[in-house]
Amino acid sequence: MDTVLSGIRSTGRLHLGNYFGAITNFVELQHQEKCYFFVADYHSLTTHPTPENLHTSVRTVLAEYLACGIDPEIATLYVQSDVPEIPELYLLLTMNAYLGELERTTTFKDKARKQPDNVNAGLLTYPVLMAADIIIHKATKVPVGKDQEQNLEMARKFAKRFNFMYKHEVFPEPQAFNFGKELVKIPGLDGTGKMGKSEGNGIFLADDAKTIRKKIMTAVTDAGPTEKNSPVAEPIQNLFTLMEVMSKPDTLLFFKDAYANCSIRYGDLKKQLAEDVVLFTTPIRERILQIENDEAYMRKVVKLGAEKARESASKTLKEVREIIGFKAF
Ligand code: TRP
Repeated sequence: MDTVLSGIRSTGRLHLGNYFGAITNFVELQHQEKCYFFVADYHSLTTHPTPENLHTSVRTVLAEYLACGIDPEIATLYVQSDVPEIPELYLLLTMNAYLGELERTTTFKDKARKQPDNVNAGLLTYPVLMAADIIIHKATKVPVGKDQEQNLEMARKFAKRFNFMYKHEVFPEPQAFNFGKELVKIPGLDGTGKMGKSEGNGIFLADDAKTIRKKIMTAVTDAGPTEKNSPVAEPIQNLFTLMEVMSKPDTLLFFKDAYANCSIRYGDLKKQLAEDVVLFTTPIRERILQIENDEAYMRKVVKLGAEKARESASKTLKEVREIIGFKAF
């Protein structure tokens, strides 16, 4: 059995792209492999959230994952800052992480460009903390997007370096993982590209019906087909793709036919799509709200997660400390 681990940024809410790209796969995977999912709240400190924002976003992210079907009894779902073994391993790893390689990391260079007034050491050592997150549970598979591949490469480097330096095969090399299948790519509503958090083109699982209808009604389209069977431009193809995921097959067929014979009315298509999305997201949204407001349940989930994560993390840390040469007097 593989150990799969995924870190979740505590900023930002889940959108349909996250849902179909990753979450549905996590929900399946938790029954097949040993899965760790955690909220990376230490990482979020690099951008200096306010105390209220920090707590609220951690809480929301947890509620969203639970609402989507992550089972805290089966998987290990925890908050990074509840596991003190992680920052300890991070400290140990920093001793073998070199300034030059950290400075050359693309994510660091990007962040330094984006927040020139706050180029803190946490940004620089971000990949070291991420490596600690991963290797503390000896994870072998890490589902990450393209933007995180270099960080994962660094994690492999730090793991191998540790093994080599102390002549012990402590850490397996964590590999990127794409669920072994073609991932569903959900397009955004702005006519081009995929749905993303920062692009402002997304439908969030927690959006209410009114918001969803408004977003879809203002999605980008074109002037409409004037000749039979004319090619489909990207904005329209994107709406068809959304429909393919969200609507019944004959609904999609109906609008595709309407496009082919030039009788399509984009307003009707959008209305139908909006209703299908609302139908799909409403139960999830209701679950998110219910879970988020259930103090006792949230407390129980977080406590159980911390216990399970610390059990595994403390085992690794004990081994690491011994190998390095820490000894009790
Ligand atoms: N850096 C990741 C992101 O921005 C979040 C993350 C932190 C992570 N620690 C991790 C992802 C460990 C995978 C494994 O999305």
